Amino acid sequence: MATRTQSRSSSRNTSERSRSSGERKRGGGERSAFSWGENTGPIIGAAIAGAAVGLFANYGRKFLMQSLEAAAGDWDEILATEHDMTLAIFDRMLATDATQTFKRKMLLMKLTHALDKHAHQEEMVVYPALREANEAHDADLLETEHGYVKTYLYELSQMPADAPNWLEKVREFRSMISKHAHMEEEQVFPRFKQGLTEEQNAKITALVNKDGFWMA
Ligand SMILES: [Fe+2]
Ligand SMILES: [Fe+2]
Repeated sequence: MATRTQSRSSSRNTSERSRSSGERKRGGGERSAFSWGENTGPIIGAAIAGAAVGLFANYGRKFLMQSLEAAAGDWDEILATEHDMTLAIFDRMLATDATQTFKRKMLLMKLTHALDKHAHQEEMVVYPALREANEAHDADLLETEHGYVKTYLYELSQMPADAPNWLEKVREFRSMISKHAHMEEEQVFPRFKQGLTEEQNAKITALVNKDGFWMA
């Protein structure tokens, strides 16, 4: 009785035989089992071109997104613009009802991406710069709050989009973000910026833009 391995190998041999006889019928010379088909060239070319277009489109999108934000001005103005954009997403979420589950899920995805990018810029650039300027207490407090931002995102992702307490959770989350943003915009960032030279300020703006480009 043939083993399973033998059967696989015998059927492979049969198909190889029929393939090579087919190739001979087409009148070709020797063809390697690894040779590309006659029509493969244009297909591969199209695939590479498609990937290149996708890559450039993605870079184009990132460039456009970050250019729009860079137009906002210095690092603190860029971050304040992002705060406003995030709060606007919350407002759209709060305007939904329990029947709009698809919209709620889409908005939650948008919010997660916006908060992820924003937190990355602050945690990788601004908060370390604050610690360097002996403002570690504020930097640590703000970074701890970012941990709770992720907790809210986790809770909302686990909650059915038509849950009776969905709006209440979003409202609570918005209020926490709003307080956090006010502390940054009205106390921490202005005090820190006051102590920066023009050069230091320009460096932080460039670093926030660079980080934002990769996260966009
Ligand atoms: Fe923050
Ligand atoms: Fe912020």
